[in-house]
Amino acid sequence: MLKNRKVIVTGAASGIGKEIVKKCLDEGASVIACDINKQALQELKRATNDQCVLHTYPLDVSNYKEVAKFFVYVETEHCNVDSLVNNAGIYLAKNILDYQVVDVDQVLDINVKGYIYFSQMFGKKLLHSQCNGVIVNMSSVSGIEGSSDAIYGVSKAAILGLTKSCAKNFSPYIRVNTVAPTMVDTPLMHTIPNWRKKEYLSDQLIDTPVMPEDVAETVVFLLSDKSKHYTGATFDINNGGYLR
Ligand SMILES: NC(=O)c1ccc[n+]([C@@H]2O[C@H](COP(=O)([O-])OP(=O)(O)OC[C@H]3O[C@@H](n4cnc5c(N)ncnc54)[C@H](O)[C@@H]3O)[C@@H](O)[C@H]2O)c1
Repeated sequence: MLKNRKVIVTGAASGIGKEIVKKCLDEGASVIACDINKQALQELKRATNDQCVLHTYPLDVSNYKEVAKFFVYVETEHCNVDSLVNNAGIYLAKNILDYQVVDVDQVLDINVKGYIYFSQMFGKKLLHSQCNGVIVNMSSVSGIEGSSDAIYGVSKAAILGLTKSCAKNFSPYIRVNTVAPTMVDTPLMHTIPNWRKKEYLSDQLIDTPVMPEDVAETVVFLLSDKSKHYTGATFDINNGGYLR
């Protein structure tokens, strides 16, 4: 589905991002995997059969200068890049009453500003050369329904808005969509409070747990030409929980 495609994936070294990398490679794409965790990126590279099609680049998505430097690297080494998956994210599992200013900044810097920086620089590159491309952003059911961690909820709601605005701003060259999963079995999920996990499950119509591979399937569909009529849309991957 992704033959001859080149995809940037952020937060690529763990959980959902790692599965997105694997599925993109399986579908014939080459991938530039970015993550703050250099060691985990190296492990991902080691575990990949065809190492020529997986490029790794350690960076902090919230650091504007690092992101700008990355796009200089992309321009020189991967000029034909056509897809971006904004996936990196953190969840502090805190009540808003316990948030310090530094925590608020950290969540919004990574979960929102990181997505803005990547969208801006990717958008500039493709629009400048009038090339077609695709962006998929990682939101969450918490961005629609609210979260027990209000700042995380804010960050994921912001991504719904960023998606619609970028879909308009980057038309007709770049399609921009977002996925909004419920709990997905990753290291991040294990930090969600148990009472909240129970609440999520009690509202679901399907009781099969959502796995990182399931989210990756939808992301690959959205990256592919099979989704050519979709832009500005949110894809709920939520087992029918919180219908809207
Ligand atoms: N797991 C869930 O239940 C769930 C549900 C809905 C949405 N999401 C979203 O999916 C995305 C991936 O989450 P996950 O569950 O795979 O979590 P994860 O913790 O397994 O993976 C997140 C990855 O992002 C990387 N990362 C964190 N900060 C970074 C930074 N500043 N710069 C670059 N990379 C950074 C981490 O090193 C890690 O590899 C997140 O945006 C998360 O909010 C997760």
